[in-house]
Amino acid sequence: MKHNIPKQSLGRTNTDLQLPRTLLLGSATAATQIEGDDGKCNWSHWAAAGKIAGGVRSIKAADHWNRLEEDVNLMKKLNQECYRLSIEWSRVEPEEGQFSHEGLQHYLHEMQLLKEAGIIPLVTLHHFSCPQWLQEQGAWKKRKTVKLFVRFVTKVVETLGDLAWEYCTINEPNVFVNDTYMDGLYPGGGKNDVMGYFKAARHMIEAHVKSYTCIHELRKSRGFTGKTRVGFAHHLAFFDQKSKSPLISLSRRFMDYSFHRIFFKGMVEGKKPFPIGWGGRFGQRGKTYCDFLGINYYSRHIVRSSWNPATLFGQLDVEKNLSAKQKNDLGWEIYPEGLGHVIRQAWNQYKLPVFITENGLADAADSRRASFIVNHLEQVAQLIQEGVDIQRYFHWSLMDNLEWNDGYGPRFGLIEINYDTQERQIRPSGHLYAEICHNHVIPSRTREIIKKETLAS
Ligand code: FCB
Repeated sequence: MKHNIPKQSLGRTNTDLQLPRTLLLGSATAATQIEGDDGKCNWSHWAAAGKIAGGVRSIKAADHWNRLEEDVNLMKKLNQECYRLSIEWSRVEPEEGQFSHEGLQHYLHEMQLLKEAGIIPLVTLHHFSCPQWLQEQGAWKKRKTVKLFVRFVTKVVETLGDLAWEYCTINEPNVFVNDTYMDGLYPGGGKNDVMGYFKAARHMIEAHVKSYTCIHELRKSRGFTGKTRVGFAHHLAFFDQKSKSPLISLSRRFMDYSFHRIFFKGMVEGKKPFPIGWGGRFGQRGKTYCDFLGINYYSRHIVRSSWNPATLFGQLDVEKNLSAKQKNDLGWEIYPEGLGHVIRQAWNQYKLPVFITENGLADAADSRRASFIVNHLEQVAQLIQEGVDIQRYFHWSLMDNLEWNDGYGPRFGLIEINYDTQERQIRPSGHLYAEICHNHVIPSRTREIIKKETLAS
């Protein structure tokens, strides 16, 4: 589908929206979702067991493992200034304690390609997957995993040396523990396992705090260049409420605490928040364990209260009566103001630089992506104007990919993938984003068209 947004070169007026050059614009992916099967990852086994929608039994995905050069060239075409990618643990350590030279060299090569392209990497070390050998040992429910993770992190950071200096330890620990232990959607497949949720959360927090220190010490002792910055990518949903009922307010606060705040307290402040601990610490008092706040934002949820501890005493609904334009292909509400709300709250609390580590939508027809991008960047510009130090915006996603248990149906890419031929094609919205990345300007004409479109929906 073509949008009717004119080329940016068609003139600027004084209502053009300027995005500062201190904000780098790029996109994000995760290894399991694009690289293709290695047979050693827990998701390969999950697929083989028939747990992925659409009858997916093996994960060929976008075959990115074999198409690095082609894909980095596409990033160049899209004028990407930064790129968030993840390292597949099972490619690096296919058997416990045995590190793969080939796997490590592959990622080193990828970093070299990015350097040549002038694209700054943000490397994620855990994005929802682990080696099958670790899965069989109980993965994040086991404390031993903390040590094993730090050992893997050490190998990666040593190998990438001067070529990567910004790291994201763990992606969305909250979504991960929820989908793994409560909803049974991810490998491990636990259902309503509240103990599992908090136990795994505890181990992930500890693993983050230890990795933070380890990455800083290692890069310093080896004299690697680049200002080391370490954080994690937190999934912040905007929890809204429709009535002022005290019970709903209580549910909302409780859910916000157990889904969002616990992870900030643990991973930024190094604390052991209840019920992960009784006030102790993983780190030192007064020290901060994040150099940036990584924030993934997608949608708004309306909170209802519930007596069910298995749903953390709340229920999340999607706003009713949304038009087709107001939601994505997965039914998630498109609500740009929510980005403003969640970032403002996090910024006011911690005053750390913000990286928007994910923001995007499933939109196979590409009929809403252009306005999604513009409307969310409007929020970003507004926040920057208010004084929030936003330094990165990574659109999710660079290319179509395997949407975990939902399979290949949802299309999140700036680049469309034909999974039969592996042909890549930049979507119209991708071209628009490329211009924004290049000029750091959203022209008034584009803004007006998008505004009209949004109001009409
Ligand atoms: C996030 C995940 C990412 C992708 C998007 C749509 O929760 O981090 O891998 O699946 O959702």
